[in-house]
Amino acid sequence: MYPTYMKESIRKVEATRERRLKETFPRITEEEKTSLLQKFHPDFIKEGMRELLVGSNKGERTPNEMADVLEGNSRINPDKIDLDKIDYDVDVLVIGGGGAGASAALLAQENGATVLLTTKLRLGDANTVGAQAGTQAADRPNDSLAIHYLDTMGGGRFTNIPELVEVLVKDAPSVIKWLETLGVNWDKNPDGSMHELSGGGASRLRLHSARDYTGLEEMRVLRDEVKNRKIDYLEFSPTIELIMDNKGQIGGAILVNLETNELSLVRAKAVVMATGGTGRLHIQGFPTTNHYGATADGLVLAYRVGAKLIFMDTMQYHPTGAAYPLQILGQLVTEKVRTLGAQLVNVDGEQFIMPLEPRDVVASANIRECQERHKGIETPSGEVGVWLDSPMIDIIGGEGTIARQLPAMVRQFSRFNIDIIKEPMLVYPTLHYQNGGIKINTNGATIVPGLFAAGECEGGVHGRNRLIGNSTLDIFVFGRRAGRAAAQYAKEVKLGTLTLDHVRQWQAELKQAGLAELRPISPLLLPNYARQPYDYLPDYTKQILTVGQIKVA
Ligand code: FUM
Repeated sequence: MYPTYMKESIRKVEATRERRLKETFPRITEEEKTSLLQKFHPDFIKEGMRELLVGSNKGERTPNEMADVLEGNSRINPDKIDLDKIDYDVDVLVIGGGGAGASAALLAQENGATVLLTTKLRLGDANTVGAQAGTQAADRPNDSLAIHYLDTMGGGRFTNIPELVEVLVKDAPSVIKWLETLGVNWDKNPDGSMHELSGGGASRLRLHSARDYTGLEEMRVLRDEVKNRKIDYLEFSPTIELIMDNKGQIGGAILVNLETNELSLVRAKAVVMATGGTGRLHIQGFPTTNHYGATADGLVLAYRVGAKLIFMDTMQYHPTGAAYPLQILGQLVTEKVRTLGAQLVNVDGEQFIMPLEPRDVVASANIRECQERHKGIETPSGEVGVWLDSPMIDIIGGEGTIARQLPAMVRQFSRFNIDIIKEPMLVYPTLHYQNGGIKINTNGATIVPGLFAAGECEGGVHGRNRLIGNSTLDIFVFGRRAGRAAAQYAKEVKLGTLTLDHVRQWQAELKQAGLAELRPISPLLLPNYARQPYDYLPDYTKQILTVGQIKVA
């Protein structure tokens, strides 16, 4: 329930509704856009980033929180690991149990590989299940692969890697069919055709959805499929280091069981990194839409074996994270709310941005409205936000539209006695997506032989800003491609002698740069507000965790 002073602002929102229904807010010009982003987008806050001092991206800028973990100390002492004691021996190891990991595992198995999937939490605990609005694919008569390509490139301000975008849009229609074959219940029209919506930066209706819990529905069928096809998987078993061989190829990984603290060694001819995003690093103190395990682990592991990262200086802040109530701070309020007609308005009920501009623009406009124009609404706990006027949806689309199209959102807010059919939601940007990541080719291969990457941990597909519905598409397109390519690669490669010399070299590099004692242990595995790693790690790792006593090398 909103407190009285917030309700007073809501009265103003209601009072302007009739006028706003007739009003088309003008799109901003390119010059306005550039100036808005430079002034208000968190990526442009200079102090928020710094140059990396070690590794293959040395000299490039990334958020401070990301730099900390990328420059982190290993969790293992390589001298204490017996590489002859292999617990699992497979062709393809998939690291990550979300949409990308599950897709990679399925395709690797279909292509003849023995597969092990390992994941930090449970199979399906991933940003995939939080994806609400849908998955883009150009499959309508008035749409085309070329238009989807141009929209995607435009959203990324033409910084995207063109060949990655090309395969993204080309594979999209078959991905939708694949998911339907596996059991996804897409929203359909009464005649059986796909019910498709538009989204910010998209010039056609091509968002395929399952109400407002699309990712949950997609993950449901993938998880079942992994289980039905009897693909081996380990839960609560994050990877803490990759293993190489003496020829510079990937040779496997070291896992830790979060329940027993035991380490396991996996020998694998190929590894698909599918660890997802970064939101739980809480860059610049932002809340996040991301799941609990999103701590950039895959980036850390890949960086340590020499993979190149790309676009590491750009994060996506979703314009509409919940700003009230505090219990759901930062949680996603899907862009579909704006697609269906809700406008963004300030404390006086006035519009200040066309609601379907690309996300970076809308997020920046929301920040400007609160920080510069002081037209935001402050919550009792001191957060600030603008109104997302959801009741407009039923006014435009007819009574029942919200209940039908946004059941999860209705429920989310009703738990706090807020009825989004009658009252607007208070929103503010929230850390949502890592635009960049591990550099890949069209098969998900990195520059490290045998290391593939798929989903949010890879970068280049979206350039500096991703469009709605292109991330769930990305995880399936590149998950499938990486799984297939990893299985092919595994058929041909001959592994040499396994080694952890890269960890020794990494620690030596940190020491030489004077960083070893300044940086944390990484991968982080769990966010900082969880219990600290030394509570549960094996004894030999504790010795390297005490500040000032980092003795790995
Ligand atoms: O707004 C959303 O539902 C988010 C979708 C996405 O990030 O693609």
